[in-house]
Amino acid sequence: MKPLAIDLFTGLHGWAEGLTAEGYDVVGFDLEDMCGQFGVPRPKHVHLVIQDVLTLHGSQFKSAALIVASPPCQEYSYMAMPWTKAKAKAAAIRADTTGAALERLNRLFNACFRIQREACEAAGRHVPLVVENVKGAQPWVGRARWNFGSFYLWGDVPALMPPAAAAIKVKTMGAGWYPPDHPKHVPGLGFNTHAERAIKNNGGSRFNIGSPGQKVTGKNPVHELTGRKQGGDWFAEARKGGEGGTSASFGSKSPQRKMASAMIAKIPLPLSRHIAATYARLSEAA
Ligand SMILES: C[S@@+](CC[C@H](N)C(=O)[O-])C[C@H]1O[C@@H](n2cnc3c(N)ncnc32)[C@H](O)[C@@H]1O
Repeated sequence: MKPLAIDLFTGLHGWAEGLTAEGYDVVGFDLEDMCGQFGVPRPKHVHLVIQDVLTLHGSQFKSAALIVASPPCQEYSYMAMPWTKAKAKAAAIRADTTGAALERLNRLFNACFRIQREACEAAGRHVPLVVENVKGAQPWVGRARWNFGSFYLWGDVPALMPPAAAAIKVKTMGAGWYPPDHPKHVPGLGFNTHAERAIKNNGGSRFNIGSPGQKVTGKNPVHELTGRKQGGDWFAEARKGGEGGTSASFGSKSPQRKMASAMIAKIPLPLSRHIAATYARLSEAA
């Protein structure tokens, strides 16, 4: 029988792709069907459940060989920005001596560990958990155990991890990204909370998103997924008219922005395969 993995906040199933490639069956949980929304095929052997992770009880997962999780990172990324409002938000959370604000901030991150605890209790053995998030989460949830480029990992991170050289490495927005008018601004870095995950490509970034007005010629992640023609100043095009060339702007709620964010947040295959293979070997040996 195939080992079972649970993928919390499954998104575009980046974890699940590596897990299924290493022989797992995967049950993924999310509030939305990202693949369905964007017409992207779901990996085989992945079963999606539309459910709020906060409502899960870990005893459901007592037969799981592994739990992986990527809770949303927007708030952590935002508070790492050198912006007055971002700093004020962080200061307000720190100033709340009851701890309620911190609890609220970390509720999804902490839910992963609660679910793991419940799974372990029900299983009568340790059920490993690996949680992924951004560098900017560290001041709030503690130091990560490893990072694979801009993908930071907590929990049962294997002792042997892929060499840093294999990782996706970019300047991060969580710590290191500055707005276009800032003296430390690096052109070509991201424009939204996930842009730090942009993947280097030919010296630029895979996402290659620029500051407003900058010409950007990188691969359009939307085109990559939908198979549309590559090239051109896709970012400016998208900002002006969206994929359909309408007058709608490429606003924070646009489908283009949403898909691009989901793609950048997707766990890279070398990382998911490595974790999957490590725990497959350990569960075989047990
Ligand atoms: C960072 S993305 C996950 C990326 C994913 N690991 C991948 O490789 O594509 C976070 C996901 O969490 C989902 N989400 C946010 N809040 C949630 C909740 N309370 N319960 C379940 N899913 C949630 C979002 O819809 C989004 O798809």
